[in-house]
Amino acid sequence: MSDESRPSPAGPPSAPAQAPVAAVIPAAGRGVRLGPGAPKALRALNGTPMLIHAVHSLAASRHVSLVVVVAPADGPTEVKSLLDAHALPERTDFVVVPGGESRQESVALGLAAVPPEYGVVLVHDAARPLVPVDTVDAVIEAVRDGAPAVVPALPLADTVKEVEPATEPGAPEPVVATPERARLRAVQTPQGFDRATLVRAHETVTEDVTDDASMVEQLGLPVVTVPGHEEAFKVTRPLDLVLAEAVLARRRLNDGY
Ligand code: C5P
Repeated sequence: MSDESRPSPAGPPSAPAQAPVAAVIPAAGRGVRLGPGAPKALRALNGTPMLIHAVHSLAASRHVSLVVVVAPADGPTEVKSLLDAHALPERTDFVVVPGGESRQESVALGLAAVPPEYGVVLVHDAARPLVPVDTVDAVIEAVRDGAPAVVPALPLADTVKEVEPATEPGAPEPVVATPERARLRAVQTPQGFDRATLVRAHETVTEDVTDDASMVEQLGLPVVTVPGHEEAFKVTRPLDLVLAEAVLARRRLNDGY
């Protein structure tokens, strides 16, 4: 039996071993936790918008041949000019579409712009501008090897408590449980999917989720982790901008990035 026709051990159809890879980058959030100013994805890191760093991080993988950027609803023209001004590798096409009200809606709009020949789809937050290419490639490899959904994940440094959320901000919250830390992982992006699985997840799951893989879990399909990377952190608060610029400065010193 050829590699292409071999059923995946997980049961559902899997992406063929050499399936072309598209990356959907939701970048339509306002980023209110970062403070007032431009939409988060357009904030500069060392003079270049975060979104451009994110697009280049994904396009650094030689497997990624299409990048779909989901822009703020009023910003596709601005985003398109930014991408025109910051050349991608010749092998990589890009498309810009307007985003939606929620991250999930933005991802669905981006996914709808991916032509059917792309058997593998990555979903990557614009807010994780510095993900290393080895992490991107590890995710792609695991999907091409037959996993319907793959997430980069890291062990936690902090112990995590489940609480009964308070209604007043800052009020004490009763702790209801302490999950065993060794079994917990913090997940990052890019999350990788067999295209048909991600399309089905978006058609089926309507409640709000905070990541795409959890929609696949809700379909009852297996999701696996690969090692994440500390530089794939999400830029959420003002201090994260300082950290991101420090990472860029270290890269420039180390390898002339
Ligand atoms: O809000 P959060 O940090 O979880 O957002 C993660 C990613 O989803 C960001 O890159 C953000 O731009 C994107 N997003 C989006 N459309 C929305 C909300 C968030 O594309 N309506």
